Amino acid sequence: MKTINIVNGPKNASAIIQGCMRMPNLSKEAAARVISTSYECGINFYDHATCYGENGAAETRFGEAFPLTGIKREDIYIQSKCGLCFDRGVFDWTKDNILSSVDDSLRRLQTEYLDTLLLHRPDVLFDPEEVADAFEILYNSGKVKHFGVSNVVPMQIELLKKFVKQPLIINQVQLSLEQSQLIDQALYMNNKTTDMSVNRDGNALDYCRLNDITIQAWSPLQIGMFGGTFIDNPDYPELNGKLGDIAQRESVSKSAVAIAWILRHPAKMQAIIGSMNTDHIRDICAATNVKLSHEDWYELYLSAGKFLP
Ligand SMILES: NC(=O)c1ccc[n+]([C@@H]2O[C@H](COP(=O)([O-])OP(=O)(O)OC[C@H]3O[C@@H](n4cnc5c(N)ncnc54)[C@H](OP(=O)(O)O)[C@@H]3O)[C@@H](O)[C@H]2O)c1
Repeated sequence: MKTINIVNGPKNASAIIQGCMRMPNLSKEAAARVISTSYECGINFYDHATCYGENGAAETRFGEAFPLTGIKREDIYIQSKCGLCFDRGVFDWTKDNILSSVDDSLRRLQTEYLDTLLLHRPDVLFDPEEVADAFEILYNSGKVKHFGVSNVVPMQIELLKKFVKQPLIINQVQLSLEQSQLIDQALYMNNKTTDMSVNRDGNALDYCRLNDITIQAWSPLQIGMFGGTFIDNPDYPELNGKLGDIAQRESVSKSAVAIAWILRHPAKMQAIIGSMNTDHIRDICAATNVKLSHEDWYELYLSAGKFLP
């Protein structure tokens, strides 16, 4: 497994993260098998959020399952996110909500600390001074070691940075061969003939690279938000053909090639996988051994319905 040193953050973090959003429906034993399998494959980073499952069910399941694995707490990084309060119909970055969310996450995960806490999606009513107060309390109490954001545009990160003392080290955003806006807008710059030139994220990729913020790519195998996977999907024949060719050449699965496409980008991103199937997890983890040439990377990108402008 390839590892990366997140600037100002966790060292030797696995390039592939195990996402736990789909864990709520697993039994405690099945969740333990997912954690053990990913760990055996070299994953040492686990992603959560307060909103994964009713009443934080994914965190609860992970907390119950983790002791069954025999893995030491200090040998993994646990990340959670707060701010999406679907039960109340709001996004909430108030100090009270950030503090109570972390306490809830720690209780459910059965841990003393989070390695990283991300603000999940922007609360348009956020007050950066309140966020700064909350982060200071969490950092000084030892409940959270590092901080970051998810789905946040550069100018809002700048606004946070004006008040928050701790470095913001991560921006978790959507990126896959199918959902590649993070990359498209710069490639199609100023091109009136395609919607792909529309700048939807304020140049988040280049901003994060310039500011040593690690990009974590969520849903790396999905179509749209939750449209199912493009792997072996008959609606994506060209993409599957190209994935298949490289998979055969490299003796890995198509899913490993799709993840390798993200890891090949020089921004040193992490890819967050969501599979709860231990065979799929093993297959994907071979991604960090796949060697993609410049040509391979472009051919995969183009086979997902893009063109060279
Ligand atoms: N920050 C955010 O706003 C945000 C939003 C969404 C997700 N996330 C994070 O990103 C993580 C990953 O999201 P995701 O679950 O949508 O990621 P994903 O890895 O793109 O998709 C996983 C899904 O694809 C299925 N799948 C089908 N064929 C597969 C194959 N051959 N190999 C692997 N998976 C296959 C999996 O089913 P099986 O289980 O049967 O393999 C699973 O249902 C989440 O757990 C969460 O931590 C963050």
